[in-house]
Amino acid sequence: VKAASAAWRAEFPKLWAKDKSLWTGADEDKWLGWLDIVAREQRDLPSLEAFAQEVKSLSDVVLIGMGGSSLGSEVLAQSFGQQAGFPKFHALDSTSPDQIAALEAKLDLGKTLFIVASKSGSTLEPNILKDYFFARVGKAGKQFVAITDPGSSMEKEAKEKGYAHIFYGEPTIGGRYSVLSRFGLVPGAAMGIDIARLLNATAEAVMRCKSEDIESNPGAMLGLALGVLATKHGRDKITISATSALKSVGGWLEQLIAESTGKIGKGLIPVDLEPLAAPSAYGWDRVFVHVALAGEAELVELKVLEDAGQPVIRITLSDVYELGQLFFVSEIAVAIAGAVLGINPFDQPDVEASKVKSRELTKEYESSGKLPAGEPVRRFEGMALYADAKNAKVLDGCNTLSEVLRAHFRQAKAGDYIGLLAFIEQSQVHFSALQAMRTKLRDRLKVATCAEFGPRFLHSTGQAYKGGPNSGIFLTVTAKPKHDVQLANGKMSFGVVQEAQAIGDFAVLNERGRRALRLHLDEVGSGLAALGAALDTALA
Ligand code: PA5
Repeated sequence: VKAASAAWRAEFPKLWAKDKSLWTGADEDKWLGWLDIVAREQRDLPSLEAFAQEVKSLSDVVLIGMGGSSLGSEVLAQSFGQQAGFPKFHALDSTSPDQIAALEAKLDLGKTLFIVASKSGSTLEPNILKDYFFARVGKAGKQFVAITDPGSSMEKEAKEKGYAHIFYGEPTIGGRYSVLSRFGLVPGAAMGIDIARLLNATAEAVMRCKSEDIESNPGAMLGLALGVLATKHGRDKITISATSALKSVGGWLEQLIAESTGKIGKGLIPVDLEPLAAPSAYGWDRVFVHVALAGEAELVELKVLEDAGQPVIRITLSDVYELGQLFFVSEIAVAIAGAVLGINPFDQPDVEASKVKSRELTKEYESSGKLPAGEPVRRFEGMALYADAKNAKVLDGCNTLSEVLRAHFRQAKAGDYIGLLAFIEQSQVHFSALQAMRTKLRDRLKVATCAEFGPRFLHSTGQAYKGGPNSGIFLTVTAKPKHDVQLANGKMSFGVVQEAQAIGDFAVLNERGRRALRLHLDEVGSGLAALGAALDTALA
């Protein structure tokens, strides 16, 4: 990294000069509005302060958005916690009917404000979710606020339906680089966070990230470390851990890293929330990044890993208001890592592929009343297994679920990773079940593991799973919802949409030659338990 930093002295100024030749020479220069956003937002605080005062009388604020339009706000909400005198904050980025119903049950609908965030305005999930809640609150436009880029279909609709406010995004900033623009700041203001203080703290990091003395520039050094460790040392699994107060930062970081770098067969694979373990659990493809608050005791595991020869990067925030610094430094780092990798860190070509497939599937459902899921290759009690011909071949001779799982996951070799992709409600119980499975897989097979909820990950790590290196081994899990919920247009249910998204994504994984199976559970609770038990047998 030291050697690279010397070589990068001449290259780095191209970033602030917005020179696209730093990357692939495509249209990267059109997506660099985030470099200057902090100063611009510092000049435009009164509207946020007024908005914060307005929401104080409400009981709840629900942010509806996907990927870059919600993950940053979720980090703010979880890291700052509920502020006295401000409404409860919830983020909704799922089409799971169980998740929608669970959230709705917590709300006092008459005293809830819905913030609908979408840069493009055309993303499926926020559109069907806002329509659903618009109907549920009796079409009261004043209970809605939009954050969107100028000229979007969402802006038009917000005007027609009399939304309380429209806050505008900056079109030269892509979703995952938008947290320090209105996309993170409007929800942050509604949470009662002191936005002026957050931006002032961030401005210091902006200054430091301008330094052409690379070794004192935190963004450049982090980016070079990630880029060089991946390209020269095969350490492309960015294993993120954080102190419990900042635990959610991984969800934002993994999106920034995966969606920005995972394409054209290259990329960094973020590994979030995988519990830290002893060195024997890991291969030599890892970089550990730990985010903590100053004054906290150092995690024993980190020192042990470092002593064992694993690279450990520590990021320490003096207080939670330095989260803006973490956001900005990470954006610079990923832009630089992207340059080292030789990719365009501002597009997401493979996210679109899944969206197109899901759209085709929901169209088909509208005309035939059925989703074309194909025929299962095996049936087990309460479950059906789907695979394309290539993946099914690996299962030859396997009759039980544990035999299937053994054959599938035993394909893992050094440098591979396993992804559990669950299109189910993102509840604590389901999270714990997935965590238990991934931990066993990691410990037994010594490969990195990811556990993700869909459709949330489609706007995040899904880009890298489909477009990045072909080193992933995936198990997509779908399940019949406990209680389905109809869309406002009555044409189908959220359950159908979520299943279409899963089937669509699975089809693209297959098209890209990924090692992938899909398991459909008739009942999520018992199905996950049976899957966990079968995995235990498979790994024994
Ligand atoms: O980073 C990205 O570009 C994506 O994750 C988007 O943020 C996500 O797909 C949502 O897009 P939009 O804000 O247009 O609804």
